[in-house]
Amino acid sequence: MKGYEKNARPLFHITADKGWINDPNGLVFFNGEYHVFYQHYPDDVHWGPMHWGHVASKDLKHWRRLPIALKPSDGEHGCFSGSAIEWNGKLYLLYTSFFENGGGENIRQVQSLASSTDGVRFEKHGVVIGEKDLPEGYSVCDFRDPKVFQDGDIFRCFIAVKKLDGRGRVLHYASKDLVHWTFICDLFGEDCKGSMIECPDYLPEKRLLTTSEQFAVRDGNAHLNIHTCTWFLGDLDKNSGKFSVETQGVVDYGFDFYAPQTFAKDGVMIAWLQMWDRNIPSEPFGFAGMLTVPRRTEIKDGRLWQSPIVGGETAVARQVTENLLDNAAVGVLKIRAQDVKKFSLKLRQKGENYALLKLDGNEWTFDRSRAGAQITGAEQDEKSVAGIRCMPFVGGKETEITVVMDWFSIEIFIDGMAMSSTVYPDADADGIELCIDAASCRYVRTEIDGSIAREE
Ligand code: FRU
Repeated sequence: MKGYEKNARPLFHITADKGWINDPNGLVFFNGEYHVFYQHYPDDVHWGPMHWGHVASKDLKHWRRLPIALKPSDGEHGCFSGSAIEWNGKLYLLYTSFFENGGGENIRQVQSLASSTDGVRFEKHGVVIGEKDLPEGYSVCDFRDPKVFQDGDIFRCFIAVKKLDGRGRVLHYASKDLVHWTFICDLFGEDCKGSMIECPDYLPEKRLLTTSEQFAVRDGNAHLNIHTCTWFLGDLDKNSGKFSVETQGVVDYGFDFYAPQTFAKDGVMIAWLQMWDRNIPSEPFGFAGMLTVPRRTEIKDGRLWQSPIVGGETAVARQVTENLLDNAAVGVLKIRAQDVKKFSLKLRQKGENYALLKLDGNEWTFDRSRAGAQITGAEQDEKSVAGIRCMPFVGGKETEITVVMDWFSIEIFIDGMAMSSTVYPDADADGIELCIDAASCRYVRTEIDGSIAREE
């Protein structure tokens, strides 16, 4: 990976000024700004005692950095993932206090509350959903990631947990004051397919629930990552408290996507653009992990549709007949084509090295095996070893492809589906080569209008 400054960072993706980040936390619109917190360890490029990093934005494109919101204290070994809600003009964070206690069965994961009047400085109020609130048969060693939301004049909260004799579940609690919580039920009432659920998220108006699962089960070419995310559409029964699933699908087909959360205000989603159990080539630059671009979520044709919120000035706009050559390492490409028969798009090309998006029968394939620094992980299936991810091609008259490129990432959106991956090519690897066979095709590249300010 050549040509970068020694402390290179993505241009517009949220990451840390220094150190490690994982899940987005506490997505909330407060005092006229979108606030995004994230799991953060400032002292190293590896996971460590978790803090909550913090950025805010008025337009979801330009972000300003705010001081770290939560640090482990009072015996905590980490402030794990959680969510945020505004109530009576104050901002509340509900997060998991992680007490290591020497590890193993002594670990305790319980839910704590913090609040703020200015949205910047937070005061901790201690544990509000503790060991005594956990029904029998569930493990307090794996009880985390509370998602709080408002339902009329009560608050509801979904929390991931592990069954003592089984796998991942989600528990449903309710409260009138965010401090006293009552257990309602086991949300699905059955084990997930993987080993543990993490980071449930829920948008009541869209009937959209998402979960992240550890050690997921492969389903054809879907769920190839060792840890993966699923969306569910269904009904929350207010009497029983149970969620019944109508349909479900993969949130993102790429290599690097985990722990998505949404803003209650408008359903915009942000996830961790990274995956556990992989090497992260940006470590020498002093950072590891970043967040996806914000995505609009809609429910169309009975499924989740995602579209990125990004873009700016048009740099190139052309009708394409067969081939197109362009240059940009960072930017947004929009390709709209009628009756696509063949499609191949090389990105971040330099000589024989590039990332490749290709239409292959009824699937899109993304190949990052020649796109710079090698990334390997726990996945040992043939697709992962070959550096390939697949996404269904829905077909139809018109196909719209949006590609969001930053220095170290490529996020692809086609017909509402998404495929997001990190890549680590040389800085001057900026070739774009499109070969298409279609009735007609328009190519538009825009410069990015957006950034993340460095430390103030
Ligand atoms: C998901 C996760 C959460 C946990 C956090 C710890 O990536 O494992 O379950 O709260 O990361 O950093």
